[in-house]
Amino acid sequence: SNKMLDDLDKILFSKDELADRIKELGAAITADYAGKEILMIGVLRGAVIFMADLARSIDLPVAIDFMAVSSYGAATSSSGVVRILKDLDENVENKHLLIVEDIIDSGLTLNYLIENLWSRKPASIKICTLLNKPDRRKVEVPIAYNGFTIPDHFVVGYGLDFAEKYRNLPFIGVLKPKVYEG
Ligand code: PRP
Ligand code: MN
Ligand code: MG
Repeated sequence: SNKMLDDLDKILFSKDELADRIKELGAAITADYAGKEILMIGVLRGAVIFMADLARSIDLPVAIDFMAVSSYGAATSSSGVVRILKDLDENVENKHLLIVEDIIDSGLTLNYLIENLWSRKPASIKICTLLNKPDRRKVEVPIAYNGFTIPDHFVVGYGLDFAEKYRNLPFIGVLKPKVYEG
């Protein structure tokens, strides 16, 4: 028995539903980028699990790199000020960048990242997110590939955490409010 399951109200996307949708995303990306090489940029840490499966569903050369970012804290998070904690290892000039995220919420993280990455003169930038939560958007970001659009629930699993927990659940679930309300 998985004790983490007791903290969930329900399972939103099962392991099989995630796998099926990620195969579809991979097929679409493979078709759209035919003849090109992709540099996937994963946003640490939530995107890691999704990115690992997505990369293997793409039938083209895929290089991977990572960035870690942090907003400056709750008081200023609405300003969209983001700090780079870990930058890319690769030079991205003239490369086709596919930014991979687990979830887009306010959009502030990606809004900053897109602007930052464009200044490095890549050939293209597209966004692939597993989950899109539009109810809480503060700034619009262009999403090229979206796994699922979800309502404003606290979701965990498959990379998504609450206080660093639940990332290793193989499915996505809705956290019981009593867990995050303490
Ligand atoms: C979460 C999530 C996205 C971001 C989305 O990351 O993984 O990266 O927030 O929020 P936004 O659209 O409002 O900017 P978090 O900062 O929790 O770090 P983590 O990936 O390490 O969990
Ligand atoms: Mn994240
Ligand atoms: Mg998090």
